[in-house]
Amino acid sequence: MSGFSADWLALREPYDLRARSAVVRDAVVAAFAGHPSVTIVDLACGTGATLRALAPHLPARQHWRLADNDLGLLARASGTERPVGVRVTAIPLDLNRDLEAALDGPVDLVTASALLDLVSADWMERLAVESAVRSIPIYAALSHDGRIEFDPADPADADMVAAVNAHQRGDKGFGPALGPAAADAAIRRFESLGCAVIKGTSDWVFRPGDRDIQFELCSGWAGAVRETGNVPLADIVGWLTRRRDAIQAGDSSIKVGHVDVFARPTGTR
Ligand SMILES: C[S@@+](CC[C@H](N)C(=O)[O-])C[C@H]1O[C@@H](n2cnc3c(N)ncnc32)[C@H](O)[C@@H]1O
Repeated sequence: MSGFSADWLALREPYDLRARSAVVRDAVVAAFAGHPSVTIVDLACGTGATLRALAPHLPARQHWRLADNDLGLLARASGTERPVGVRVTAIPLDLNRDLEAALDGPVDLVTASALLDLVSADWMERLAVESAVRSIPIYAALSHDGRIEFDPADPADADMVAAVNAHQRGDKGFGPALGPAAADAAIRRFESLGCAVIKGTSDWVFRPGDRDIQFELCSGWAGAVRETGNVPLADIVGWLTRRRDAIQAGDSSIKVGHVDVFARPTGTR
């Protein structure tokens, strides 16, 4: 168990899919156009959302090596429906300890989604250096960048958002997380290593009808803020009550900022 439930991943997947930057995805697809086959390592695959998002756009023959330390999620990912010609190998492993092992062997592309904001600066450095040394392009989607906007606005929003983003910087299993700074840090580091970087926003946009995910998110944020101790409990409860009332009334929209990145070592592929 990783703390990321299959139900939560299923709830967010359609919004993730809609949010992914088409510019970044198209750059990934263009990089492999005309290739007879492609081998992909998907880091922290969860139930296989990146495979489902990307496989229809890549060459017909694909081998996906799916890496995660949650065996339940990995089993679901291995069983995911996939187009003919798409082969899957599950790799149960702790990416904090064994990132380098996950990248061993022939790899054309590394993918990740909703991962970079969980990792530490040290781990990001390992990923950037390993992929540069091995000349492997990386497509890292859906890193939260700290932007959260509510409509209607609430007087407690600013304190809540600040505390959510503080919580994002806590240890998520890789050391102190980069959280909202992750995408910028990745872009800077990939560029400094000589990669060509394509980036684009991939914001979640939840409309008034998207009640279930808004309820889940606001409840999750309230719990996270409580863990920080940065906002008085009564203020958290008041905020959550007002938010839930607005969501229930069909009067709530939320936008959550994300960034997608495609980093490609230049002159090598
Ligand atoms: C936010 S989920 C994203 C899952 C999937 N990429 C997606 O977009 O739906 C984060 C994933 O990271 C995995 N994870 C967290 N820490 C890990 C670790 N140390 N080693 C391997 N996987 C890890 C979790 O099990 C989970 O599947």
